[in-house]
Amino acid sequence: MIALPHMSETDVDYEDLMSIMARSMRPNQIRRLTPLLARGDMISFAAGAPSPETFPYEELAEMSARAIRDNGRIALQYGPTRGQGKLLQEIAAYMTARGTESEPAHIVMTSGSQQGLDLASRVLLDPGDIALVELPSYVGGMIALHNSRADLRGIAQDKDGMVIEDLEEKLKTLSSERRRVKCVYTIPNFQNPSGVTLAADRRHRLIELAEKYDFLIIEDDPYAEIYFDDSSSRLTPLSALCPSRVIYLSSFSKVLAPGLRMAWVRAPKLVAERIELAKEGADLNSSQLDQSIVLEAVSSGLVQRRLPFIRRFYAARCRAMLDALTANAAGTSRWTVPVGGFFILVTVADGIDTAELLPSMIERGVAYVPGQSFFCDYTGANTIRLAFSKESPEKIAEGIGIMCRGLRERTAVA
Ligand SMILES: Cc1ncc(COP(=O)(O)O)c(C=O)c1O
Repeated sequence: MIALPHMSETDVDYEDLMSIMARSMRPNQIRRLTPLLARGDMISFAAGAPSPETFPYEELAEMSARAIRDNGRIALQYGPTRGQGKLLQEIAAYMTARGTESEPAHIVMTSGSQQGLDLASRVLLDPGDIALVELPSYVGGMIALHNSRADLRGIAQDKDGMVIEDLEEKLKTLSSERRRVKCVYTIPNFQNPSGVTLAADRRHRLIELAEKYDFLIIEDDPYAEIYFDDSSSRLTPLSALCPSRVIYLSSFSKVLAPGLRMAWVRAPKLVAERIELAKEGADLNSSQLDQSIVLEAVSSGLVQRRLPFIRRFYAARCRAMLDALTANAAGTSRWTVPVGGFFILVTVADGIDTAELLPSMIERGVAYVPGQSFFCDYTGANTIRLAFSKESPEKIAEGIGIMCRGLRERTAVA
């Protein structure tokens, strides 16, 4: 037998073998925080995950069992890349009811919206194309755009969402430099990480600019159904205002369970076709079992029936966090006032670096995400993303008290 040379991993220059894309990949700073949060008594405002208290355990257990026992030939098999026909019909009907006329040919089921963001980025962007994102924006969305080697530029945001004047100015400048803007990525409802909602008039103006400067809008809307106040809830989706300009994404993660990894993209037919082709290369199809369960959860009315409870559940937590901030941080910090979703963005005194402060906060037993990682231009060092989704109202009050004491002590030292 010929002896093969015994090489170890240290003998191979893997870096040299990596693609340019892999060499430029960035870790998701929020996921990196997870091991730090393992302490059982930690009050965590860090992860933007839904509360396990909202999962319908019994119903999903029965639906899973039924999907395998009664429908296992489909649920346990490969399936069409776009998704199961009946589920595509349900989603198309839901999108139509929300004002975006849709057929199954517009829809692709994805393994979480995160996959939808990745696929949309792949089909739209060439290296160096410009993608405009809100300041701040969702880290996972920016990673997907970055992985397609897009050049990310930030658009200012205020309490009514993206500042359209800033967007217009950037579009003008970029067009005078002959730079191609392919897309604007926006989370118009109860944004992650800021909690703000894009005002109705700004939605119209954004569409006008998409027409004028010929770009597509990626509308990422996983929190659409988690609104706290009916009057603010039904802002027309961008996709309903102008379906031909919008790639719309939403998800079952926040209203059912993220473990199911089930979401969808609604796009113009040709774009949906290309996303389907990109998905073929990514995973052939999303889990048939998850699709079967979600199909029953939707068609039986389970998802719809539980929404009022889910809205009340998160509204109470949001209220508790806003009250605690008012009681502990009024006059020293500013914060957004969301009308839905999971997040509040706090801006503390200039000069305080919230990332630097985090280890001492964790020692005190409270965690948050430092805001800077949400800003593609690396500003926002004095901001904090707080998720109110995980902790009970009592723990929220306690945790905000601890965090604000830490901030006051830091300010006194500065
Ligand atoms: C704005 C936004 N988009 C997409 C996602 C990804 O969701 P999914 O679980 O459907 O992949 C999240 C998850 O937190 C999010 O906040």
